[in-house]
Amino acid sequence: MIIKDNSRRDFVKKTGSAVLASSLGLNILSARSKASGINSETIKVGLIGCGGRGTGAALQATRADSNVVLTVMADIFEDTLKESHSALMGENPEKIKVDPANMFIGFDAYKKVLDSDVDVVLLTTPPSFRPGHLRAAIEAGKHVFCEKPVAVDAPGIRHVIESAKMAKMKGLALMSGFCWRHDDPKNATFARLLDGAIGDIHTVYNTYNTGELWFKDRQPGWNDFQTTIRNWLYYNWLSGDHITEQAVHSLDMMSWAFGDVMPISATGTGGRQSRTEDKFGNVYDHFAIVFDYPDGKKGFHFSRQQKNCSRAYGLDITGDKGRCNIHVSNNHEIIGKKNWKWEDDKKERNDMYQTEHNELFASIRAGKPFNDGIMMAHSTLLAIWGRMAAYTGQTISFEEALNSNETLGPDLNAYSWDLRWPLKDVAQPGITKFA
Ligand SMILES: NC(=O)c1ccc[n+]([C@@H]2O[C@H](COP(=O)([O-])OP(=O)(O)OC[C@H]3O[C@@H](n4cnc5c(N)ncnc54)[C@H](O)[C@@H]3O)[C@@H](O)[C@H]2O)c1
Repeated sequence: MIIKDNSRRDFVKKTGSAVLASSLGLNILSARSKASGINSETIKVGLIGCGGRGTGAALQATRADSNVVLTVMADIFEDTLKESHSALMGENPEKIKVDPANMFIGFDAYKKVLDSDVDVVLLTTPPSFRPGHLRAAIEAGKHVFCEKPVAVDAPGIRHVIESAKMAKMKGLALMSGFCWRHDDPKNATFARLLDGAIGDIHTVYNTYNTGELWFKDRQPGWNDFQTTIRNWLYYNWLSGDHITEQAVHSLDMMSWAFGDVMPISATGTGGRQSRTEDKFGNVYDHFAIVFDYPDGKKGFHFSRQQKNCSRAYGLDITGDKGRCNIHVSNNHEIIGKKNWKWEDDKKERNDMYQTEHNELFASIRAGKPFNDGIMMAHSTLLAIWGRMAAYTGQTISFEEALNSNETLGPDLNAYSWDLRWPLKDVAQPGITKFA
């Protein structure tokens, strides 16, 4: 059965059956590619959230396959969308086919991307929007690239888990932005670890200790909310705090080392010592969390965003037959049954961001959609869970963390430039309650 792109769109509208439409769309894409030569069907991509990561992801998407074009872009700010578009035109002009009529601005701009005929959407806004955007994308029958973290609170995680299951049922690809899982040295190292290279792993110490991040000074014409959302990192209802927004990468690798088994409980501490001005919203600048795993195993997490302090971004993993040291960018070493080292100088290292997109698009072409949705939800939950333990000063079990009813931000439909979302006080352990 050959159905042209337009008739596919009409079909979707007429039946109103998203399930049928999405699986049909997928089959057409892969069947056509197979029938008439590799990549004969153009894959159209839409970008939602045109900041730094979104622009990078759009570039990687358009380089992932010989017949992919970016056709629709959405952001809440016109200036960021325009900057992103011109950066993309500078890099890969023949793959950027975004008419001005397909550039959408505003909190409902994502809906216009999903109403368009794109096959794949890239979700790269601040994390608070992710659960709502993801669900809408899956309901619209789109394949998704979903940046980490995928939520800022436990209700968001539960919503994402449901969406991941829906994507699977509908035959839609769902690829997370947990990019280290696509890095060659990490894959080589974790494959050996999971194959017993250091015996039974009993502790994973992981760090994300870095300096301070960017801040955007208020410009003429920005109201309070515009200034807040431009500086979304510093508001836990938008970012989930820095353990969720940034250090989640280290927690994701801790989870990988433990075979993606979830811990039993988390206990932690944290606070705000050096980044204390009001302009830095209500986030902490350091966290230290202990995760208790079955059989007495432990994951120790330490993250900070404080300037003029020593930096570390890696894992020290101990097993009953050896140990493994990973510094994420330049050192991967196993001292165990058989010593081993990734030799950067001898092997060409891949670009993990490009690899994740290559794998996503190849899986769509092959009709075997990649889906790491449950993993991305669990890894993000580790960060939210650690934050809840540190904010409250309580030991929190897996069930309590997953079933927490604390919602940090407003419903997706409540967003407008008139929104005045109350800023919660900086959390105080022993006073801030677990909810
Ligand atoms: N995997 C990685 O290594 C990596 C690296 C950097 C960032 N990230 C993640 O990517 C996401 C984006 O980060 P960034 O650094 O690009 O931030 P950014 O501020 O540069 O970009 C976010 C963009 O989203 C837009 N936006 C905000 N709300 C929106 C909405 N409701 N609808 C549409 N657009 C909206 C903003 O205007 C901005 O252009 C975050 O979740 C971040 O954690 C991942």
